[in-house]
Amino acid sequence: MSDFEVHRLRGPLNAAFFSVLGPYIEFNVRDRKRRLFHDLPRTVVELGSGVGANLRYLQAGSTLVAIEPNVPMHRRLRAAAERRGVRLDLRARRAEDTGLPESSADTVISSLVLCTVGDPAGVLAEVRRILRPGGTFRFVEHVAAPAGTPTRALQRALRRPWAWTFEGCSCERDLAALVRAAGFAQVEVEPYRLHSPFVTFNTQIAGVATA
Ligand SMILES: C[S@@+](CC[C@H](N)C(=O)[O-])C[C@H]1O[C@@H](n2cnc3c(N)ncnc32)[C@H](O)[C@@H]1O
Repeated sequence: MSDFEVHRLRGPLNAAFFSVLGPYIEFNVRDRKRRLFHDLPRTVVELGSGVGANLRYLQAGSTLVAIEPNVPMHRRLRAAAERRGVRLDLRARRAEDTGLPESSADTVISSLVLCTVGDPAGVLAEVRRILRPGGTFRFVEHVAAPAGTPTRALQRALRRPWAWTFEGCSCERDLAALVRAAGFAQVEVEPYRLHSPFVTFNTQIAGVATA
């Protein structure tokens, strides 16, 4: 089981935040997600499902194995899965240790999760372990801006209040480099920039890593 610690105030607050602002975030990344998640299989593993932002990309009648250690998110996630007609196999575990069998998954997805996990390299090793050969990890993440840019300076300046508010989230991770170093057979990564008021969050990547 999970040893994930949920703050008694910020846990529920983050669940409420993603329920309210989730649609705005989704509006900004919807075209990329449509391309990335367009042909998902009938069973998908998702890391850090939150309150269910990615359920809309699954076909009704399919199964989501949701690895979500943050229990205050569960009620909304269950309700969203029911609305979408998706069968939910919800596991209160950390993505570093999913408990899933080796080579058992065709597709693992995540959005805005590798920024928050305690050990992103450990999560990527776990993804490789559970994917079948040829299986794919499809991800959308926010990352550190290029060194020397004003956005990078702002990410540095705001790192502590940002991490405090969003339960350990970092705006300073070079996640493209981490995915490339994780030993996948093939990695495709597209960097892009959003134009939202959340400047530190605007530098993002989307990609597919094949086991
Ligand atoms: C920024 S939210 C994103 C939620 C959702 N994926 C989305 O796109 O709206 C980050 C999520 O990662 C989850 N999370 C944090 N640490 C985790 C870990 N070690 N393993 C799995 N999920 C984790 C949080 O509980 C939260 O639901």
